[in-house]
Amino acid sequence: MPNTAIITGAASGIGKEAARDLLAKGWIVYGIDVSDAALAPATRELASDRFHPRPCDLRDASAVAAVMQGIAADAPKVNALICSAGVLKIGHLMEMSVDDFDLVQGVNVRGLWLTCREAMPMVRAATAAGEIGRVILMSSIAAIRPKIDSGAYSMSKAAVSQLTQILAAESAKYGILVNALAPGTVDTPMIHQQGDPGQHKGWRPSGNSPLGRVAEPIDIVRVMRFLLSEDAGYVTGTIIPVDGGTRAAFVPPT
Ligand SMILES: NC(=O)c1ccc[n+]([C@@H]2O[C@H](COP(=O)([O-])OP(=O)(O)OC[C@H]3O[C@@H](n4cnc5c(N)ncnc54)[C@H](O)[C@@H]3O)[C@@H](O)[C@H]2O)c1
Repeated sequence: MPNTAIITGAASGIGKEAARDLLAKGWIVYGIDVSDAALAPATRELASDRFHPRPCDLRDASAVAAVMQGIAADAPKVNALICSAGVLKIGHLMEMSVDDFDLVQGVNVRGLWLTCREAMPMVRAATAAGEIGRVILMSSIAAIRPKIDSGAYSMSKAAVSQLTQILAAESAKYGILVNALAPGTVDTPMIHQQGDPGQHKGWRPSGNSPLGRVAEPIDIVRVMRFLLSEDAGYVTGTIIPVDGGTRAAFVPPT
C-alpha cells in the first residue's frame, strides 16, 4: 500500500509543494484548504487521482472533526500529517484590529491544535501497524527572532513551537515523531499578499538570506523529505530553522 499524508494549506505555497513532492513519490494525499474555490486550481495543477481535496475552515472545530472523520473512513492509517495552513497579518500590536488578531491566532494556533487533535488517531493507527507516523508543523523564523509589525504572527508561531515540543513528548509512546520547520521568508502568495512592504511602516519580509536569495517552497520541502525519511528516526520535538542563515547574524544593508 502507498503511504498516506494529510496536508493542510495544500492549495498554496509550501503545502502545495509538499503535496506535489509526495504525489511524485507515489503517496496518497488528502489536501485540506479553506474552500473548494481555493482547492480547485491546485487540484488541476497537481493533476493526480491520488490527490483528494478536502475543503475545511480549520478554525471550525466541528468542521475539522467532520473532515477528519471523512478521511478516516477512506484511509484509517495516515503516515504523515503536514500542517502548513497559516495566515500572516501585519500591523503594530497596539493598532491591530481584534478581527485580524483573532484570525491569526484562530488559524495558526487553534486550527493547528484542532487539526492535530482530530488527525492523530489516524497517525497512531499507522505506527500501531508498524508503519511510519510523522507530524510536521510550520513554525517560523518569527518565533525565534520576532520583528515589529509581525507581533500577532510571531506570538502564534511561538505557540506552534511550544505545541511541537509538547506534542512530541506526548506522542513518543506511540512511536510518532513530531517536528516543526522555521522558515525565513519563502516566495509564496502569503508574502505576495502583503503588497508593498513599505506601506507597512517598519515591516519587511525577512529578506535575502546570507545565502543571497529568498527561499523557494522546494527549499522547505527538501527538509520535510528528511523528516519523513528513515534517517530522521531519532529526531523529534525539534524546531529546525530553514532560513539560509537569516537569523544567524545581523547583516547590515549594503
Ligand atoms: N512564506 C513564508 O515566508 C513563510 C515563512 C515562515 C513560515 N511560513 C509558514 O508556512 C506555512 C505555509 O505558508 P505559505 O507561505 O505556503 O502560505 P500560503 O498563503 O501560500 O498558504 C497558506 C494556505 O493556508 C490556507 N489557509 C488559511 N486559512 C485557512 C483556514 N482557516 N482553513 C484552512 N486553510 C487555511 C490558505 O488558504 C493557503 O492556501 C504557514 O503556516 C506560514 O505561516 C511561511
